[in-house]
Amino acid sequence: MHTPGRLLLAGALALAAAACTRQAPAGTAAADTGEVTVACGATEEWCAAHTAAFTAATGVKAEFVRLSSGDALTRIQAGRADPEFDVWHGGPADGYAAAAGQGLLEPYVSPGAAAIPARYKDPSGAWTGVYVGVLGFCANTEVLAEKGVASPTSWQALLDPALSRNIGIAHPLTSGTAFTALWTQVVLNGGDTRAALRYMRKLHPNVLQYSKSGAAPAQQVARGEVGVGVVFSHDCVATREQGFPHLESTFPAEGTGYEVGGVALVKGAHNPVSARAYVDWALTPAAQEIGPSVRSYQVPTNPRAKISGHTVDLKTVRLVDYDIAGAGTAKPALTREFDATVAQAPR
Ligand code: G6P
Repeated sequence: MHTPGRLLLAGALALAAAACTRQAPAGTAAADTGEVTVACGATEEWCAAHTAAFTAATGVKAEFVRLSSGDALTRIQAGRADPEFDVWHGGPADGYAAAAGQGLLEPYVSPGAAAIPARYKDPSGAWTGVYVGVLGFCANTEVLAEKGVASPTSWQALLDPALSRNIGIAHPLTSGTAFTALWTQVVLNGGDTRAALRYMRKLHPNVLQYSKSGAAPAQQVARGEVGVGVVFSHDCVATREQGFPHLESTFPAEGTGYEVGGVALVKGAHNPVSARAYVDWALTPAAQEIGPSVRSYQVPTNPRAKISGHTVDLKTVRLVDYDIAGAGTAKPALTREFDATVAQAPR
């Protein structure tokens, strides 16, 4: 016969076991430790705020490593047999599409995905969008005034010889932001990758250096090292707010690309249950309203999330028809070709 004391003890042990080792759903191999490790592709502050808020909301511990898009893909590839990460969160979805094409993501249609518009999610659930960012130019009006150059409002204007060594842009091999710029040229040239690379070669003499992370050029512009950065417009707005009122965000008249920041499960993740909980949470209005608290002003994909007054109105910018799946397929070869034929070209 069980005594009440024994029953209480057994109940407490069962609860502790459930908390420590969450049961994996049928069809998945592993149980899970109740922790999640995130490959995080947005800013360091965004990643820290999101993982902390997830833990506060669910009790599941979360750690992250901030990685630019190409670096995240490389690390997830390297962990194919023994994944380092459970979840990938933030950074342009074309990187996720590239990873899905290599069998590195575990498709998951979260119940919360129903609220996200179809254009912001993969139809098979490989990734789901959490934010939208618009590519633009970030101009230092003081630097440009000295050169007698106006803030650029076209891709063509970036080729002005007066801007020699005065453009900051990241390297598309590492940066999703820079790959968005490269793919935008492909789209503006009717899908012609040769023409896109030709444009980038013409731009090359004006580029000071190709940074690793996509937002870095906004800092270079703020410091006056270059006159113009090619960055997501919200990264320019955030830098301006940090005490650089002479930064101006503009958009190209020919049309510009945009990112859909993703969230996805890593295939074979050690913590599949916690990872699903993370994805479910990342799609909620509460999660998508965190950005502005850390000066990240992307557009939320969940229509129920409040939009900050600092966020660009997508209807006011001419956007190109950005084919995320096509961009993801082209990304590995196109970025290698960029490196060989543009970044390493003499000037
Ligand atoms: C910044 C932006 C994000 C973007 C990310 C891409 O953090 O705020 O919206 O997704 O850059 O980073 P990457 O280094 O890959 O260009």
